[in-house]
Amino acid sequence: MMQTHIIGVGGYLPEHVMSNDDLAKVVDTSDEWIRERTGITQRHIIAKDEYTSDLATRAGAQALEDAGLSINDIDAIVVATTTPDMIFPSTASMVQHKLGGKGFPAWDIQAVCSGFVYGLAQVDGMMRGGMFQRVLLIGAESMSRILDWQDRNTCVLFGDGAGAVVLESRDDEGGIIGSVLHCDGSYRDLLLAKHAHPGASPHNNRLDLNTDAAGVAAVEMKGNEVFRFAVTKLGEVVKEVLEKYDVQQSELDWLVPHQANIRILNATAKKLGLSTEQVALTVAKHANTSAASVPLALNDIYRAGKVKKGQVLLLEAFAGGFAWGANLVRWSK
Ligand code: ACO
Repeated sequence: MMQTHIIGVGGYLPEHVMSNDDLAKVVDTSDEWIRERTGITQRHIIAKDEYTSDLATRAGAQALEDAGLSINDIDAIVVATTTPDMIFPSTASMVQHKLGGKGFPAWDIQAVCSGFVYGLAQVDGMMRGGMFQRVLLIGAESMSRILDWQDRNTCVLFGDGAGAVVLESRDDEGGIIGSVLHCDGSYRDLLLAKHAHPGASPHNNRLDLNTDAAGVAAVEMKGNEVFRFAVTKLGEVVKEVLEKYDVQQSELDWLVPHQANIRILNATAKKLGLSTEQVALTVAKHANTSAASVPLALNDIYRAGKVKKGQVLLLEAFAGGFAWGANLVRWSK
């Protein structure tokens, strides 16, 4: 039976690192508060002349190299992003061009922090249906460009980056076992960025406090309520995906969660009976990178040589919408 396998993994974080102490110079916060409440110690910030597609291109190029493939071997590019270069054309089409590809389909998907989990489910379905043999799936974000840098409730939580995987359809054991996705739009007011905006272009640089940001998009969040809902729904969805695909909790080797808050991550790991060593943890190093967060966490444990062939990974995410979901993967690389 044709299965979708992850055959290449990549990631990219912008050079500029902003520590909690750096942030405390911008808003009324402290390293101690941020560490204790979220587990975050620093975040990476995109350069003034970079676009989301630049981060995505670098992560995608590393994933291709890891798979031993060139762009000409790819049948489609999908980019999950909330912070596209422009409203259109898609960031995926920019990435295709920057990687030197032409002709094959490329499109974006939007499920905020759950974008990669949604994307993996979508692409897996299309590949099982025989539409593509090899797909480059990327999660990429420039969250720093849609933050209100004077709102300490939100600006301390996010960072910029990109993570990528190359997927291959082949008649071989292992690979993506299956996915579960959910959305409930009635919660939209708890986590949103609502105004029309010029996109995540460099001239929309929110870090430059001289920028007149009035009327443009900024993340708004009722943190406490999001926190409670996220813990409950993530606990439910991880159990649901295990039951649906008949995988025992005891068979799990890795939790690869969306990196929003260390306390949410620990709560989900505890529900699954997993130790800290079995959880991919990157929130401290680069905060919440939204759609890039799950593939960057995967890249982190993969590059450290920790993921072994045959192991079972559970990927999960929770996002504005609310949109949430999980994927089960048997590692086959
Ligand atoms: N520095 C210092 N103090 C702060 C800061 C800050 N950066 N932010 C808030 N505070 C203060 C508040 O004003 C409040 O003060 P008060 O008691 O005097 O009113 C106090 O700290 C406690 O605030 P809470 O909001 O209750 O803090 P909490 O422990 O809930 O932590 C946090 C807040 C970190 C935002 C947490 O609620 C959280 O992680 N929520 C979920 C985030 C998430 O998962 N988002 C989903 C994904 S994001 C996406 O989809 C785009």
